[in-house]
Amino acid sequence: MAADLDALRARYLADLAAASTPDSVEAVRVAALGKSGTVTALLKSLGGLAADERLRLAPAYQALREELAGAIEAKKAALEAAALEARLAAERMDMSLPVLPEPTGSIHPIARVMDELAEIFADLGFAVAEGPEIEDDWHNFTALNIPPEHPARAMHDTFYLAGAPEGRVLRTHTSPVQIRTMTGGTPPIRIIAPGRVYRSDSDATHTPMFHQVEGLVIDRDTHMGHLKWTLETFVQAFFGVDDVVLRLRPSFFPFTEPSVEVDVGCSWEGGRLAIGGSASWLEILGAGMVHPKVISNCGLDPTEWQGFAFGCGIDRLAMLKYGMTDLRAFFDADLRWLRHYGFRALDVPTLSGGVSA
Ligand code: PHE
Repeated sequence: MAADLDALRARYLADLAAASTPDSVEAVRVAALGKSGTVTALLKSLGGLAADERLRLAPAYQALREELAGAIEAKKAALEAAALEARLAAERMDMSLPVLPEPTGSIHPIARVMDELAEIFADLGFAVAEGPEIEDDWHNFTALNIPPEHPARAMHDTFYLAGAPEGRVLRTHTSPVQIRTMTGGTPPIRIIAPGRVYRSDSDATHTPMFHQVEGLVIDRDTHMGHLKWTLETFVQAFFGVDDVVLRLRPSFFPFTEPSVEVDVGCSWEGGRLAIGGSASWLEILGAGMVHPKVISNCGLDPTEWQGFAFGCGIDRLAMLKYGMTDLRAFFDADLRWLRHYGFRALDVPTLSGGVSA
């Protein structure tokens, strides 16, 4: 009998040593310790033995069962540990890879304000139009009702281009885009035209290159009320202030009639500017109803079509909104200034997310 037990033990331990999967370990367990396993059968047979026989054999049977059960458990645990080890090795991730560095560039406040303007006016149904910065005399002046002998030309401090075809200038305002839009398309028209403009002028509040945004609406039955509402809606959205008060003062531009200069109500609390109310006034733009002569210069019938236009300095808008005091710093390309006043590249202004960052 003892020899039988030793043989059984040796066989199962050898089977276990050879088993390389959980299934083959389970097969050994079933063969030895399962319901009809050999060791189980031996233990069952104890019940049919005489008492002294049973006392003699039982400890050896029990010991064999214990030993095999322990070996099976150990083998299972070893296989599981090996499987986990293999999985960890296969799914290994290198956490030491460096992350991409933060971008160091930033969006210039002027570019930012242009994006804000496009967003605000897109919501009102305006498209963005563009025109060349090297303009001809006709688009920059004549078509806008500023003929060569007109005194208003002197107000523009124009850069004339030597060596270029006759009459080329650096555009002195964005209003030539009005002309290009009316001659190049059919009404109804609703556009804004942001861009660079040039005048021979330089001091703390003037740079030879600066930025304007032009607005143009041409339709039937358009009037000054539409102009005022459009400007109010724009200023409210741009500054993020509800109680915006606009003051329209009579003025003169050759290409609009009537013409107005538009002030926005503001206050200076503790030397800090706040847009809103009507304690004080800041001039922000020029505007008016497009002159009938300008409309007919563009080949449209002014008895059928009319509308309004406005022109506004973008640099000044940015200064008012974001609190810069010196215009010249906009163009110094000083990295410390850009880091301070610049915007993160991915912060795109949206009406829902807010254009009043
Ligand atoms: N072009 C004018 C300027 O540069 C501004 C303006 C545009 C005024 C459109 C009226 C209408 O000063």
